[in-house]
Amino acid sequence: MLKLRAYAKINLGLRIVRKRGDGYHDIETFFHRVLPFDEVTLEPADAIVMHTSNPALPIDSRNLCIRAAQLISDEHARGRGARITLGKNIPIGAGLGGGSSDAAATVLGLNRLWELNLPTERLHELALRLGSDVPYFLRGGSAYATGRGEQLGYAPLDLPYWVVLVYPNIHIATAWAFQNTSVALTQPAASLKDVVLSGVANPELLCRSLTNDFEPLVFHTHPAIAQLKERLEALGADLALLSGSGSSVFGLFSDEGDAGNAARILEQDFSVYVTPPNFNTGGSDIPV
Ligand code: C5P
Repeated sequence: MLKLRAYAKINLGLRIVRKRGDGYHDIETFFHRVLPFDEVTLEPADAIVMHTSNPALPIDSRNLCIRAAQLISDEHARGRGARITLGKNIPIGAGLGGGSSDAAATVLGLNRLWELNLPTERLHELALRLGSDVPYFLRGGSAYATGRGEQLGYAPLDLPYWVVLVYPNIHIATAWAFQNTSVALTQPAASLKDVVLSGVANPELLCRSLTNDFEPLVFHTHPAIAQLKERLEALGADLALLSGSGSSVFGLFSDEGDAGNAARILEQDFSVYVTPPNFNTGGSDIPV
């Protein structure tokens, strides 16, 4: 039996660079690992079956864990089976990559459970067939991402902030958000990679420079999410920003007391997750 943690992510900035011919968009973002995490347990079985703690989740081929297992079983394991148990903590439709993280954990776990020894590049290819941000979750740490989100440069990002992440009980589908957001006409001078990596030493610059191109659409459609961002700022966040295509908003707090206070207040209405500073250390292939 194998037990894996599948962490959530936030996006430290997100730019939609261009619409591509294949129906996807090129983006620029910085993925950053945060709490909470799901738990994916894998056991040998005759067929691919799944159980989950969240009754709202489908446990058939609409579920990315099942799709991941089916793909690896068909292409590399001659139809072997596995029992997948998913302890679900990451909210759904929240811009936190929960389904993608679960899928990546399933890919990594089955590579071990079935003793396939698939190389990293092959795991990356399989992951990308499951979703644009599944490859990021194959490794820990933070990563600067371009292309569909699959061209990754990992960096050890010791973010000197408490992250207060708030899920406003609203579900947003990523495909809808991409379809309804127009590509920015002008591109900013500085690359998001430089903004984030230099911003760790210069928090004021970081907070001034981080934006998310989905905010206008999402805030217009769901004014409650715009209000949540304002509340986080009023409660002392140095920066509050939408994660991915929403619906979650996170606040970066330099003061522990302010972060705890904001979490206590917002918990009365929403699901809140607090990640301590320097939580996320990982490998690097970006020279910093
Ligand atoms: O790759 P994934 O299945 O997560 O994407 C869901 C949908 O979001 C895609 O079908 C596409 O419409 C949109 N998308 C996009 N550009 C990206 C990622 C996703 O247009 N980089």
